[in-house]
Amino acid sequence: MKKRLKVLALFDAIAPTTVDQDLSAELKTEDWKTEANVLDALRELGHEVQHVAIFDNLDVLRQKLDTFEPDVIFNLADQFNNNRAFDQNIVSFLEMHGLRFTGCGSTGLTLCKHKGISKKILGYHRIHVPDFTVIARGKRISRPRRLRFPILVKPLKEEASLGISQASFVSSDEQFRERVQFIHEKYDNDVIAEEYIEGRELYVSVMGNHRLQVFPIRELVFKEVPPDEPKIATYKAKWDEEYRKRWGLQNQFAENLDPALVRQIEQTCKRIYRLLTIDGYARLDLRLTADNKVYFIEANPNPILAADEDFAQSALKANITYPQLINQIVRLAMTSSRD
Ligand SMILES: Nc1ncnc2c1ncn2[C@@H]1O[C@H](COP(=O)(O)OP(=O)(O)O)[C@@H](O)[C@H]1O
Ligand SMILES: [Mg+2]
Repeated sequence: MKKRLKVLALFDAIAPTTVDQDLSAELKTEDWKTEANVLDALRELGHEVQHVAIFDNLDVLRQKLDTFEPDVIFNLADQFNNNRAFDQNIVSFLEMHGLRFTGCGSTGLTLCKHKGISKKILGYHRIHVPDFTVIARGKRISRPRRLRFPILVKPLKEEASLGISQASFVSSDEQFRERVQFIHEKYDNDVIAEEYIEGRELYVSVMGNHRLQVFPIRELVFKEVPPDEPKIATYKAKWDEEYRKRWGLQNQFAENLDPALVRQIEQTCKRIYRLLTIDGYARLDLRLTADNKVYFIEANPNPILAADEDFAQSALKANITYPQLINQIVRLAMTSSRD
């Protein structure tokens, strides 16, 4: 395989774009950290790199492809028209045009985005998943009797803890109804309501198409949250630095896990990755209960790739530097057979 590749970095934007748009101002902002990190790494690796951002018009991408024929697209576009459930459709377009791209294919993205379907598949294969119910917009809001409190009410197809706050944790039918209605109306999303799994919050990074690498396990610790309070990676818990400081929230490497348990978690994660037909790279969100039962919470194909986020930090711990990581992701795209 040739060393120097033509790489088109594909971004999403939150407002209309043009094919030759200057994104240098955006790339200096915190919101575009991942994009900037990846561009820097690709250049450092010696690839010929161009970029384009799309909002609600795939024609912008088509125009770009008329003037620049990439060997591979580095796909960082995970929303379309501000909707994160459309990541799979962007990738479907790439697949239909026979374009090579990094990360996960459309089937894996589709299965993982739907937090109910992914749990049904894994539950069928005897992986522990929280019991849940899906309540679509416009449907009567009622809790199935088998679903016990406390319950966590979440948007069915969202990311980044959007719509998740302490109020998502409900302990009565009244709170349940209120929160479901709130997600239906304010987030314009269907709802998944899950049994709340108490336990440690683990993040496992996995990379590969056929042969899989599992990187050292990360954990979100809730140092200053009182023991009897629910511990949830809410929107604030992820993105509000002040809030994180106040409650002692820290992403770190998971400590004091028995080596045999670590091996078991790694095996479980590889099974999950394959069962959900993920390729490229992903971060799996798990909960580990006091009696060491591993529960699947969510799979994130194409997780945030910024150098200081969990995925890259885990790879680094496995002695894969950031540019090496970006290169491996590119190489995986070059050797995958998706069609
Ligand atoms: N069933 C559950 N039991 C316990 N905590 C949960 C459950 N579902 C979600 N959470 C908490 O909420 C966070 C966000 O949920 P998740 O489904 O991963 O949404 P997102 O896609 O927005 O990251 C999780 O990281 C975890 O802290
Ligand atoms: Mg998550």
